[in-house]
Amino acid sequence: MHQPPERINLAIIGCGIRGQEFLENCLKRNDIHLTAIADPDEQMNARSQAILEKYNVKNVRFYNKGKFDYLELYKNETIDAVIIASPWEDHISQAIAAIDYGIIPGLEVCGANNLEECWAIVQKSEEKNIPVMILENVCFRRDMMAVFNMVKQGLFGELLLCHGGFQQDLRSLKFNNGKERRGFGVQLGEQGFSEAKWRTQYSIDRNGDLYPTHGFGPLSNLLDINKGNRLTSIASFATKSRGLHKYIIESPFGGPDCPSASLDFKLGDIITTVFQTIHGETIVLTHDTNNPRANNFGFRVQGTEGLWQDLASGNLEDGLIYLEKYATQKNKWDNSLDLLSQYDHPLWKKYKKETTEVVGYGGMDFLVLHTFIEAVKHKTPFPLDVYDLATWYAITPLSEKSIAEGGQVQIFPDFTKGKWIDRKNNFGIEHI
Ligand SMILES: NC(=O)c1ccc[n+]([C@@H]2O[C@H](COP(=O)([O-])OP(=O)(O)OC[C@H]3O[C@@H](n4cnc5c(N)ncnc54)[C@H](O)[C@@H]3O)[C@@H](O)[C@H]2O)c1
Repeated sequence: MHQPPERINLAIIGCGIRGQEFLENCLKRNDIHLTAIADPDEQMNARSQAILEKYNVKNVRFYNKGKFDYLELYKNETIDAVIIASPWEDHISQAIAAIDYGIIPGLEVCGANNLEECWAIVQKSEEKNIPVMILENVCFRRDMMAVFNMVKQGLFGELLLCHGGFQQDLRSLKFNNGKERRGFGVQLGEQGFSEAKWRTQYSIDRNGDLYPTHGFGPLSNLLDINKGNRLTSIASFATKSRGLHKYIIESPFGGPDCPSASLDFKLGDIITTVFQTIHGETIVLTHDTNNPRANNFGFRVQGTEGLWQDLASGNLEDGLIYLEKYATQKNKWDNSLDLLSQYDHPLWKKYKKETTEVVGYGGMDFLVLHTFIEAVKHKTPFPLDVYDLATWYAITPLSEKSIAEGGQVQIFPDFTKGKWIDRKNNFGIEHI
């Protein structure tokens, strides 16, 4: 049996706002030796340096000489794994290069530039026998894991329909003041800070579901996609584009005459995507980031025995449930707290203390990192692997193509090449 090492050597590529959350959560653990960071942005590196000083960590090497200095990091450092939290455009090429150096990549979430790169990472991972994990933290959200538990124990009967999405007002992130992530302003590109530097350009250039995995990942786990089930087709529709332009011209920092007011946004304000699975379930995914709204991912999980809907953001009491066998009144919603607490996932119970001690998005950020590190240490398969990554990232180019063709149905590629039939769902198992 493989004897796991006490510590693994790890690096971070792209240490901006999200990378710094990983950095701090890594430094809180005693089984990670953080050796290096690659990021060309000196402002971000100064912030990372301050985090290292807070934890009294020395000798972390910075690779800061431009866009491709991460290749020097791969060449010079002896590392087991790398966390990639850079802008979306580079995720897959940086991961493929890591695999070439025998390094295991964990990739932050996004959509792919194109389908070819989804195939390329699958092929590279298979060829070199290096596993890949998608670091999709929402899969580990407490309510989603309780619902996962309930689905697997049959409380919903046979699943029929799942909804999810990314529904968050990102206007003050897509445009900011160049100093703070949500600093009010209408700057973008080189004048913006953090995601305003690069993410906003996607709203100018692309019309598709740009950020599919937070909504899709948890549903993929429920439905055993790539593990006994698979997607067969996808179609997307876009509303008109209004919110970003309206935001700029109405902003006290912008106005109709400011340079950002002349931008033309290709991204429809709300993108709706529908999927069919081979076992007869449908999935509806929403991307909604350009208008005023309160956050929620709009999860709905419905089966032959009833349904659950998430109304806010992730707490066990934030949803409504109606399961025929458990309902307190016929055809009336119950608050989800009682049932979801009863089925709280064992990992949330096991790591009760740790889930309160992380920075970022709470306990799900502990669990996603813990899952990655434990699997690297123990050489066990990732529960969210390269086939999941390719499938979830592929939603972006496929939805874009469907919209461009007036909502035409697209055949969903099988990145497992038939292996989905025998693969087993290993999400949420308790060995970690
Ligand atoms: N899972 C979550 O909850 C969550 C939350 C926020 C962001 N994210 C994801 O994390 C990723 C990063 O987002 P962010 O908010 O930290 O953005 P950010 O702009 O704050 O950070 C990106 C960093 O990458 C650096 N970078 C750019 N090009 C690089 C290169 N060639 N090599 C190395 N570094 C490079 C930038 O200088 C910057 O510091 C994205 O995929 C984003 O979608 C996930």
